[in-house]
Amino acid sequence: MDVNVTKLIEAAFEARENAYTPYSHFRVGAALLAKNGQVFKGCNIENAAYSVTNCAERTALFKAVSEGVREFEAIAIVGSMEGQVNELISAPCGVCRQALFEFCGNDLRVILAKSTTDYLDTTLGELLPYGFGPANLEH
Ligand code: THU
Repeated sequence: MDVNVTKLIEAAFEARENAYTPYSHFRVGAALLAKNGQVFKGCNIENAAYSVTNCAERTALFKAVSEGVREFEAIAIVGSMEGQVNELISAPCGVCRQALFEFCGNDLRVILAKSTTDYLDTTLGELLPYGFGPANLEH
């Protein structure tokens, strides 16, 4: 599938606009491209009970799955401290890698962006080698 990387990164930046981050002030946006062409945007949503916080990647994933969409091509992720430019790429946490692996497997393209022109283009298999997934529970 031909992925418009620029558009997907722009969607991740748009998603980040809604980040709710009164505690960490670290704002993350994700844009998940489904195989059917739909883009699901997600932001991080923090909580006064810190552990209840939901990451941007899982927000996007759960929005898609809850709408009946389970096949994905790529995800773009942007993150930085409030009011700062992206000096570092923001890679998905371990929990989000695992959550994505359930539906995407190794081939999901993962675009970790500082801007629309400066990004790391990798895969979920690279980020989560030897992932544990649905295949492990087949009998
Ligand atoms: N965060 C994400 O949204 N995605 C990640 O993969 C890493 C961390 C959020 C959670 C929390 O709101 C803030 O970044 C700081 O950890």
